[in-house]
Amino acid sequence: MSVGIESIGIKLPSYVIEAKKIAKLRGMPEEKATIGLGCHMVGLCLDQETVVDLAVNAAKRAIARWKGNINEIGMIVVGTESSLDEARPLSAWVAERLQLSGHIRSYEVKHACYAGTLALRQAVEWKKATNSPKSALVIAVDVCLYAPGHAAEVTQGAGAVAMIVGKDSICSVDLQTYPYSEPCFDFWRPTGDTFPTVDSQKSLTAYLKATENCFKALFADQTNLSFESFRSICFHIPFPKMVLKAFRHLSLSFNLSEFEQHKLLRDKVLPFITWNKEVGNSYSASLWISVAQALETAKNGEKIACFSYGSGFGSELFVLERNHNSGDWAEDIKTDLSKRKEISIEEYDKWRKKEVFKLEKQTIPTDLTEVA
Ligand code: CAA
Repeated sequence: MSVGIESIGIKLPSYVIEAKKIAKLRGMPEEKATIGLGCHMVGLCLDQETVVDLAVNAAKRAIARWKGNINEIGMIVVGTESSLDEARPLSAWVAERLQLSGHIRSYEVKHACYAGTLALRQAVEWKKATNSPKSALVIAVDVCLYAPGHAAEVTQGAGAVAMIVGKDSICSVDLQTYPYSEPCFDFWRPTGDTFPTVDSQKSLTAYLKATENCFKALFADQTNLSFESFRSICFHIPFPKMVLKAFRHLSLSFNLSEFEQHKLLRDKVLPFITWNKEVGNSYSASLWISVAQALETAKNGEKIACFSYGSGFGSELFVLERNHNSGDWAEDIKTDLSKRKEISIEEYDKWRKKEVFKLEKQTIPTDLTEVA
């Protein structure tokens, strides 16, 4: 039995601002955001939408276009680094809103931006191991926010991708997979901190190292494959320029000529980051937005390479194969892009200042008399 993805639903946040406007607000040259980092739009939830809203709406869309019945879901797993609780999994909030209960395995997976991929891999392996007639609902969701004034503020974003994993009607997911991990502190958010702490240079180096090691393992194992074998090569996209850096690094590692490198980038990489450029970094959902775009136009039998990276760091590379040339999840993107509201830089600034204020208010008092 080949296991794969049966349905896809996407939800983008309802508010947006241009990355270059955030740059201007912070005194950063606009070109650093647009050319240096390749950023275009930053999707925002503001205080109107939560990570649960994004996840539930993506799931509803995936379920609505699925051929199955909600009673046939045997597992719900949410990959996120935006969890609401140290104990209660985000999947419980989502399952509650979807009225999913009963003989269902429900849990949350965390590994920075790699969490959504781990959720998908576990669903695939669960389906294969149990041979269950049921399907799994996998959701990759995150809200990415940095501290006001942080250099990465222009890379923020949010989004959710829900996938029903079971039959391979949209694509099969190769059971063979190529992980690479190496513990480090490149990007982390200790319990209680609102925003992540980042060692920028370390994160860039770690991402490149992960890319090289995963692709080397894939090509060493599946000697019939090369970059040319893929219809699309999809990456985790913390900011669009990172994908260019990663592909440049791979080109040097695999001795690709300038011509080969440009042709591969033009045909197999860059066409599949345009949805991401509309929304910014959605952490766990980022790779899956790119994969959804690649699957949307891929033809029967075409292969897609999926490279996932999560700080800390863990990474994994594997291959999907398109099965049928149909699917209307691009509608989700069209709908959300047409309906979202662009906020002004003044509104953004006001909202960020309120966030900092809220943070100060939430500080736990050390003197108990303050509690009264
Ligand atoms: N005009 C045009 N380009 C400009 C410019 C200008 N005026 N000023 C600077 N630039 C260019 C720089 O030359 C540089 O380009 P190259 O990388 O091609 O040399 C680029 O803009 C960025 O400049 P810096 O390296 O000086 O930027 P920075 O020190 O502010 O760091 C960052 C940028 C790494 C993205 C930082 O914002 C950051 O820490 N981001 C969060 C971590 C991250 O995204 N890491 C990526 C890998 S980890 C991961 O993938 C997990 C995740 O999702 C977070």
